[in-house]
Amino acid sequence: MLMAPNGDDESHSGADATLSPDAVDAINKAKAAVEALPGCAGKVSCADILAMAARDVVSLLGGPNYAVELGRLDGKTFNRAIVKHVLPGPGFNLDQLNSLFAQNGFTQTDMIALSGAHTIGVTHCDKFVRRIYTFKQHLPWNPPMNLEYLRSLRRVCPINYSPTAIAMLDASTPRVFDNAYFNNLRYNKGLLASDQVLFTDRRSRPTVNLFAANSTAFQEAFVAAMAKLGRIGLKTGSDGEIRRVCTAVN
Ligand code: HEM
Repeated sequence: MLMAPNGDDESHSGADATLSPDAVDAINKAKAAVEALPGCAGKVSCADILAMAARDVVSLLGGPNYAVELGRLDGKTFNRAIVKHVLPGPGFNLDQLNSLFAQNGFTQTDMIALSGAHTIGVTHCDKFVRRIYTFKQHLPWNPPMNLEYLRSLRRVCPINYSPTAIAMLDASTPRVFDNAYFNNLRYNKGLLASDQVLFTDRRSRPTVNLFAANSTAFQEAFVAAMAKLGRIGLKTGSDGEIRRVCTAVN
């Protein structure tokens, strides 16, 4: 988890690519509950709690249940500046997505499966508003969008949208971890440009079609890619620690 240098937590750090305040709160509560158990204080890292929380959300919402590889340590530093360099952007095209994910050892199929996490959750208007107000079929940065869907999004995010307004990433079943996200893409109902481009670009379209048609293929690819995700930047030695509270180094 990210901390602000002043000790304030990630949800207030302004890095603009962070956990929501509710999510930070849930992790903090889980950590406090573990620390309070006899013999458990100082044994479970925030990184492991976060990975298990992600797994639990996926499975509670109807997705696959999978084992999480445990033993990650928490970071001892925070660098806000690198956040925007290590995360993909909502306007990324296929080459940009593939390049960033490949740097972390992911294949294109892994990247598409992980994007399937957008079968749940929300996004703020600023992440896609340019797409719905300068809508032109042939702009290279803006993959096509279903017209009816576009109109509904303009109601959610009017030109003077509120910074807290949100839209569901999966317009059809936002609270179920299923493969509907991929089917939406086939009807040009992907919310972020980085979602829709997976279907628009002919190089990734066959995988979107596979995951839309075959939920088991999606789930298996998702679980395999999540295991890889959990191994990125692994800290197991003196470069890490088990934080006492998740929002501050010890
Ligand atoms: C492929 C590149 C990706 C891009 C460009 C991307 C971009 C985004 C953006 C812009 C948001 C909305 C943030 C906001 O408005 O507050 C978001 C939300 C979300 N992303 Fe991604 N993401 C990507 C990959 C992933 C991966 C790999 C996962 C997990 C495996 C993931 C899971 C989620 C979830 C669950 C949400 C909803 C969060 C909530 O409801 O609070 N995304 N993503």
